[in-house]
Amino acid sequence: MQRFSRTTVGPKSTRCFTTSKNEIRRSYLYVPSSSDKLLEKSLTVKSDIIIYDLEDSVSPAPADKKDARDRLRTFLKRKDVPQAERVAIRLNDISTPFFQQDITHILQSPSVRTLILPKIHSAQDLHYVSRHIHQISQKHPHETPLRIVPSIESARALWNLGAIAGWQSEHGALQGGAVSGLLFAAEDYCADTSIIRTRSRQELLYTRSQIAIAAKAFGLEAIDMVCIHYKDLEYLKDECEDGRRLGFSGKQAIHPAQVETIQNTFVPTAEEILRAAKILRGMQVAHASQKGAIGLDGEMIDAPMIKQATKIVEIAKEAGIEIPQIN
Ligand code: COA
Ligand code: MG
Repeated sequence: MQRFSRTTVGPKSTRCFTTSKNEIRRSYLYVPSSSDKLLEKSLTVKSDIIIYDLEDSVSPAPADKKDARDRLRTFLKRKDVPQAERVAIRLNDISTPFFQQDITHILQSPSVRTLILPKIHSAQDLHYVSRHIHQISQKHPHETPLRIVPSIESARALWNLGAIAGWQSEHGALQGGAVSGLLFAAEDYCADTSIIRTRSRQELLYTRSQIAIAAKAFGLEAIDMVCIHYKDLEYLKDECEDGRRLGFSGKQAIHPAQVETIQNTFVPTAEEILRAAKILRGMQVAHASQKGAIGLDGEMIDAPMIKQATKIVEIAKEAGIEIPQIN
């Protein structure tokens, strides 16, 4: 396959993905593609998204990388693999000798409509990937754009965050792919920046906040870091709540036991839903009597709270949670 050089094009602003009812994306479980046992196990886990991994969870020996890719290709041909909306593949990064083979073979599978791209440092890196996607799309066309999720794992990536989040393919979304989310890879980021991660997470607050807000600026999913303490579900819950408060829409998982906690946390709480329903009803009544602000349980409520309440109700509905009727 032809190897492309990296060039720049100008920025853009629109998004081409919407979240439909059955597309809530809270948990992203990594499954090492090197193991038939884990691939098989993935069929029994109800994670919103399963990330079949070819990168860090696979040994770096070339023979092992090839073996994992072949194993995954065979697996993706099975009839019982999750539907394409629930599948993502993490390729090896573009600086490795494995990337070209990964993208060429993996994109031939109709089950693959989302790519997680590790070690993306700039918009130029995305252009480089996109030229491969474009070339492959000539032979394997699709009706919807390929979702691209750059993994933010370096100081350079954080520096270039706006350009990465706002990147558009020079080939158009349908033939060159489009960014659908930003994902934070905390371990690689700490290795790159010399940040020392502690259980308090305070040293990652700036970066996590930046990523969540950049994602919001461009209408993207914001996917929080892996909680490496996979046996400590209380700690995971705390980290999930913290991530949700920062604006993240979902979180990566490395163990099936983490999935339920993530899915239960990245939805509005019963208390939030009740308050949202009261706000929407209260403001409807207020507007009918020409009022723009009301008092609710001792708090002033006005226009921005309607926006927040509407979002809470929308996410709750996507998650299948009933909204209480307020009279
Ligand atoms: N996907 C699918 N199944 C998994 C899994 C995963 N990520 N992690 C564990 N399981 C399975 C195990 O095979 C085991 O199945 P069994 O009950 O049928 O035997 C069950 O879940 C319980 O696993 P457990 O014994 O608690 O975990 P472990 O000690 O075997 O493995 C890890 C722990 C962390 C090594 C493993 O979870 C893993 O490899 N996770 C993914 C790591 C990764 O992808 N890293 C890169 C992204 S940051
Ligand atoms: Mg990594």
